[in-house]
Order: sequence, then C-alpha cells, then structure tokens
Amino acid sequence: MLLTTLVTALLSAAALTTAQVQQSIVNPTTAASTATPLPSASNYAYAGCWNETTQVPNTGGLRALSNGNSSANNTMTITSCIAYCASFSSQFAGLEYGRECYCASYLSSFSVKLNESRCNFACNGNASEVCGGRLALTLYNRTGDGKSSGSAAGRLVGGGGGAAAWYGFAGIGMLVLAAVL
Ligand SMILES: *[C@@H]1O[C@H](CO)[C@@H](O)[C@H](O)[C@H]1NC(C)=O
Ligand SMILES: *[C@@H]1O[C@H](CO)[C@@H](O)[C@H](O)[C@H]1NC(C)=O
Ligand SMILES: *[C@@H]1O[C@H](CO)[C@@H](O)[C@H](O)[C@H]1NC(C)=O
Ligand SMILES: *[C@@H]1O[C@H](CO)[C@@H](O)[C@H](O)[C@H]1NC(C)=O
Ligand SMILES: *[C@@H]1O[C@H](CO)[C@@H](O)[C@H](O)[C@H]1NC(C)=O
Ligand SMILES: *[C@@H]1O[C@H](CO)[C@@H](O)[C@H](O)[C@H]1NC(C)=O
Repeated sequence: MLLTTLVTALLSAAALTTAQVQQSIVNPTTAASTATPLPSASNYAYAGCWNETTQVPNTGGLRALSNGNSSANNTMTITSCIAYCASFSSQFAGLEYGRECYCASYLSSFSVKLNESRCNFACNGNASEVCGGRLALTLYNRTGDGKSSGSAAGRLVGGGGGAAAWYGFAGIGMLVLAAVL
C-alpha cells in the first residue's frame, strides 16, 4: 500500500515536471456540433470515444493509453497526434482534453467505449475537429500492417501469470507428495 502510494506520488511528480516544461495551457472549448473526429488518417482508423482510466478503481491511476509517448500543446490536431504516434509505430493514438496526445501499444482493459457525445472538445489546433473530452479519448487504432492488434491486452488485469504460478506451486506439491509416498 505504502509502495503504491509512493509510486503514484512519484508518477504525479514526473507528470508535473513535464507539464511545467510546456507552454501555459489553453483550456479546451466545447466543439461545435459540426466538429467531427477524422474517420482515418495515415494507417489509423477512428475507433470511438473511450474512457480515461486515471480515476477508475484498481488502475493505480494509470491512463487508458499508458505505455507509450505522450505530448501536449495548444496547436494539437488529430493529424499531428497521429503523425506523432505513427513515428513510434504505436498501435493506438488518443486525443484528450483538446490538447493532449497519447500513444500506446495497448488500450487498458479498464477503458470502456463511451457515448460519442462525451468526446466534445474541439482540438486546440483546429476547431473543426474533435480532440476527446474531459477524461475521454478520441481513439485511433492502427490498421492493416499485419502487426499484432494490441487490443485490450490484459496487462493490467491479473490472471495468466498468477494461474501459472499456482500450477507451478501445485506441481511442487505433487512432487513432495510423491516423495513422501
Ligand atoms: C469513466 O471514468 C471515470 C473516471 O475517469 C469513472 O468515474 C467512470 O465510472 C467511468 N465510466 C465507465 C462507464 O466506466
Ligand atoms: C518516447 O519514449 C521513449 C521511452 O520512454 C523515450 O526514450 C523517448 O525519448 C520518447 N521520445 C519522445 C520524442 O518523446
Ligand atoms: C504539438 O504536438 C504535436 C504532436 O506531438 C506535434 O506534431 C506538433 O508539432 C506540436 N506543436 C508544437 C507547436 O509544438
Ligand atoms: C448519447 O448522448 C446523446 C446526447 O446526450 C443522446 O441523445 C443519445 O441517446 C446517447 N446515446 C446512447 C447510445 O446512449
Ligand atoms: C481542420 O480540420 C478540418 C476537418 O478535419 C480539415 O478539413 C481542415 O483542413 C483542417 N484545417 C487545418 C488548417 O488543418
Ligand atoms: C484495434 O484493431 C484491431 C485489429 O483490427 C482490433 O482487433 C481491435 O479490436 C481494435 N481495438 C479497438 C479498441 O478498436
């Protein structure tokens, strides 16, 4: 528990440092009803509006797109975010809060698809485009290059490893039992 708190505190401190380096934040504006997410750009296709997970229980404050590079600025557009994530060959690119761009190889399985109306912020760099919402991501998914999908890989959800360890433990138990008999 203490360790979790410490790690969370360190992560928050790191995020703060990054934010301080960037220029002052221009808060997002609500997108006009005509604003849309791009259907696709480069090799990425629109995948819907998805929930940010920082405040979802049991995520330890991790983001929906947590294992890749991120960027934020006041000229953010869908095209610039996708180009940025494409430069890392990320499976996913997500825009949030009008000015934030997250790249990742998988989407947290704690994230759920939301009603489109939750992604209601205009991109700070182009008001004709939608760039997520408050704790909501305009999500893009890389298509058609034969790479693994990276979809909702359950890294945040226990299971596989725990079960394997349990079977290993049971196996040792059998050996001990066999030796005794
Ligand atoms: C979406 O995330 C918020 C916190 O970021 C959480 O309170 C809410 O329950 C989540 N919604 C769903 C449908 O999971
Ligand atoms: C992207 O992330 C990697 C790994 O954290 C880091 O080494 C690299 O400097 C980042 N690149 C950019 C452009 O932020
Ligand atoms: C804003 O971020 C995007 C995505 O990382 C990048 O392509 C663009 O060059 C940045 N703009 C500025 C002014 O830094
Ligand atoms: C999504 O939100 C809009 C606007 O609030 C509402 O009209 C619509 O019924 C919602 N759709 C779903 C599937 O909940
Ligand atoms: C802004 O977004 C719209 C809709 O995607 C696009 O048609 C237009 O070319 C973009 N404008 C700029 C300056 O990027
Ligand atoms: C991303 O694309 C892959 C491959 O087409 C697909 O299996 C997966 O369900 C998509 N994930 C999301 C969140 O749309």
